[in-house]
Amino acid sequence: MTDRFVPPTIAPPGKPLGILASVRAARRNVLGILPAISFTQPIVTGTTGPARWHMVQGPEGLRRIFLDNVANYPKSEVMLRMLRPAVGTSLFTSEGDAWRWQRRAIAPVFAARNIDSLAPFMTRTAERTAERLSAAREPVEMVREMLTATFDVICEVALSGRAHFDADIYSAALTRYFLTIGRASLLDFLDLPPWMPRPADILGRGAVKTMHRMVASAIEARRASGPCDGDDLLDYMLTARDPQTGRRMTPAELLRNMQFFIVAGHETTALALSWSLLMLAHDSAAQDHAHAEARAALGERPAEAGDLDNLPYILSVLEETMRLYPPVGLLARNVLAEDRLYDRPVRPKDTVFLNIYALHRSRLLWQRPDAFDPGNFAPGAVAARDRYEYLPFGAGPRVCVGSNFAMMQARIILSTLLARYRFTPAGGALPVPVMHMTVRPDPGITLRVTRYIDGM
Ligand code: HEM
Repeated sequence: MTDRFVPPTIAPPGKPLGILASVRAARRNVLGILPAISFTQPIVTGTTGPARWHMVQGPEGLRRIFLDNVANYPKSEVMLRMLRPAVGTSLFTSEGDAWRWQRRAIAPVFAARNIDSLAPFMTRTAERTAERLSAAREPVEMVREMLTATFDVICEVALSGRAHFDADIYSAALTRYFLTIGRASLLDFLDLPPWMPRPADILGRGAVKTMHRMVASAIEARRASGPCDGDDLLDYMLTARDPQTGRRMTPAELLRNMQFFIVAGHETTALALSWSLLMLAHDSAAQDHAHAEARAALGERPAEAGDLDNLPYILSVLEETMRLYPPVGLLARNVLAEDRLYDRPVRPKDTVFLNIYALHRSRLLWQRPDAFDPGNFAPGAVAARDRYEYLPFGAGPRVCVGSNFAMMQARIILSTLLARYRFTPAGGALPVPVMHMTVRPDPGITLRVTRYIDGM
């Protein structure tokens, strides 16, 4: 077996923590409270105060929750509470009929044909990112750089540029939101009454107002000016309608969905890109392979949609990275009616955590669960695996509507950069994953960026 890079992990607590220790640990890093047995068993059940919970990380159990008995497992209040202030009743936070019609209206917006037509925006952004890196003399903090790149994409495709949109102000508000309201509050999960305000809610309110005002003014400007030159996501959304009922979105629904795309569309993808660069910086054979592939397909030009079929290894790097660092590592669901998961009775009012992070590192499913190995996503390996063993975008009717969009932008940006630059460690300790709403590297990913000479 070849030596593979094994990035640092968070050591799971050997035995479940008490309530206060759990709250404290989860405030720091939700990964710190995933029990060790969640990596070796498909389900773990416990109680925290009055709340009974199950962590599910086995493919069969996840299939039941995501697909076979999906109506029994609506999204939990914990998650909705974190997101609702920013995205109100959007597709992501709705249930039942309110969800169904929005999904019918929005899914076609993200159909392959539309996403292909958004690719030129992504190509231009990839070029701008590559140009920014060419000016870098010092090691570069890649998370910030990738957030700028994917935010650039979302500004272009969601709002056709920044004329009505100060990206720096928006970005600062978004960061404030993640650090306040967006921080998983275990207090919610411990069954405190929902009307009791958490300090973070109050601190984050200003950030949400700023984000809403900016997105609303961009939408207003588009309504006034009519469709832009070459359709973008906002044009598609302005004309989206439920094919069954003809219903269109109200201005408030449009605002909240656009706001969600901006939030969901850029941070998650930037994290997948940043972690990928860290993996490659520490696995020079994998980086050689990825560079050779990108160079052969692209030379010095940025990637376009038509290149993607020629970049299979780079796709496997992204997929393997999202196995180790799923940007969305944990989801939560309520239970409506009694059910059974594996040998366990699951009761109304229990909380079910869908533990994607532990699924992807399960000792039962993966040969070297903590090692970086793009071979896990070679075509034969993918075909041999159950769909429910790898779920970075969720599954079933609520599967991520933006997964094609995310993967296209990630592949275009990553291959453009790898064709031109070599990424190497800048020294210092490796970052560790910290999960709140997403799985981020702490303290960031700082790499040296060197241009290949004469295309070598
Ligand atoms: C690497 C990037 C991304 C990851 C890892 C990701 C992950 C996910 C996951 C796990 C879910 C399912 C949540 C659940 O079942 O509770 C989801 C749903 C969703 N995602 Fe993504 N996402 C990404 C990018 C995007 C992008 C780019 C967009 C839009 C521009 C987007 C829009 C949505 C929406 C609207 C939903 C809700 C769908 C529904 O409930 O019907 N995501 N995403």
